[in-house]
Amino acid sequence: MNVYVTLFKADKSVGVRVMGNNAKFLKRYKKLMILMLAVIIIGLIGCSVHVYLFNHRERLYTPAGPTDDCSMEIAPRGDESSQWVKNVIGMPTWYATIYQGLFTNASPYTITYWSMRVNIHEACCVSNAWCGSLEIHQNTEEGEKVQTLDLRNFSPKDLTLDYIQDGPDTMILLNDGDYIEYLPGAADKEYPITGRPKSDDESSARTIGLIFYSHHSAPMVFDDFEITYYLHKGLAQMPVFWFFSAAAILWVMLVIAYIAVFLTDRAAQKRIRQDELIIEQSIHVLTKFVDAKDSYTNGHSYRVAEYSQMLGQKLGFSTDECRQLFYIALMHDCGKVAIPDAILKKPGRLTDEEYAAIKKHTTVGAELLNDFTSIKGIRDGALYHHERYDGTGYPTGKSGEDIPLVGRIICVADAFDAMNSKRCYRDRHTREYIIQELSDNRSKQFDPDIVDCLLELIVEDQIRIAEA
Ligand SMILES: [Fe+2]
Repeated sequence: MNVYVTLFKADKSVGVRVMGNNAKFLKRYKKLMILMLAVIIIGLIGCSVHVYLFNHRERLYTPAGPTDDCSMEIAPRGDESSQWVKNVIGMPTWYATIYQGLFTNASPYTITYWSMRVNIHEACCVSNAWCGSLEIHQNTEEGEKVQTLDLRNFSPKDLTLDYIQDGPDTMILLNDGDYIEYLPGAADKEYPITGRPKSDDESSARTIGLIFYSHHSAPMVFDDFEITYYLHKGLAQMPVFWFFSAAAILWVMLVIAYIAVFLTDRAAQKRIRQDELIIEQSIHVLTKFVDAKDSYTNGHSYRVAEYSQMLGQKLGFSTDECRQLFYIALMHDCGKVAIPDAILKKPGRLTDEEYAAIKKHTTVGAELLNDFTSIKGIRDGALYHHERYDGTGYPTGKSGEDIPLVGRIICVADAFDAMNSKRCYRDRHTREYIIQELSDNRSKQFDPDIVDCLLELIVEDQIRIAEA
């Protein structure tokens, strides 16, 4: 069977092939677009989730385990006015020092918020802070006292913590085990801290100031603190986000291209369908002219076309190929238009001259269809449908597979319809006679494979033989 499919495929029309290729291309293109869109969406969602998790992660900085993100250095301010002595009656001498903490954002991202816990390891006092607030945790005999204060602006009367009042100075007492939580002020622009300043007004560092009192003149050492902070990364700071954004732009352009190709293809398909309709209707009209010549063979061309199409299906032809075969078979007897009615409709036996005239319908048909190039094989159908497999047919006497495939198929369909139809000079033949004739003429008149297909169609009752 493969040989038939291969032979016929060589005749496939260009229009059908172009339509098929375009449809396949658009289908693959569409799948690719959907896949690409899914990858882009997943990529962008992935970027967003990554940024969300990155921005909401609490981070920790300690002097023991610094990160590359930030740094904090707490040290005496260093100038002469930043240290002095305070004597409080009944207490050892207090040494006051102004300490500065330089908090630097070393990351490329913005620090949206931060706070610092400083653990106290000796008896001391805190009395002032330049900015922000202090949440002071003080362990007393009554238990832990906690109070949050803006040390720039508070009244000693409001204090719940233990403290010393010396003149205008309020000194909040701290001991080993106490701690303070420095809470930077947004109003003081202590946060957010940009990672890469965009202007001279911005800085990637903040300086805090605190006054501590201790009982020794040497500065206190602050090396036990930890900073909690949050970083903010923008989507635009991720190269992969730009990759997916570029992919999204490319996708939009591809969608526009797809729509343009789709519309163009649809218009082309519409034109092709219109052309096919014109061909189909023209062939049907021509066929009616042919069949109208002989009322006894009325409908013969259409039936032969149907049988040929069914044989094509049996032989493994595609839908398009079967449709082409249908049109080819419809036109197989078109040469009869040139045969005189007196011969075509003659009820009795034909003379040799009359039979020779009848036989000419094959070559006349081929001449008529010579320029009918839109359906390849249509000329062969008219020219070779009276060839016989054993080489005794007409008009060329070709034999076997030298006879074009369409000619061999129509030959079987044509002979079957002739036997299964009433003629002016005889009635239709019986089922037994027809099957016997078809079987007896395997490899004689008919291609054996094709006639076997027809016998299968009869046995399967797909082709019915009318009652004689
Ligand atoms: Fe014929």
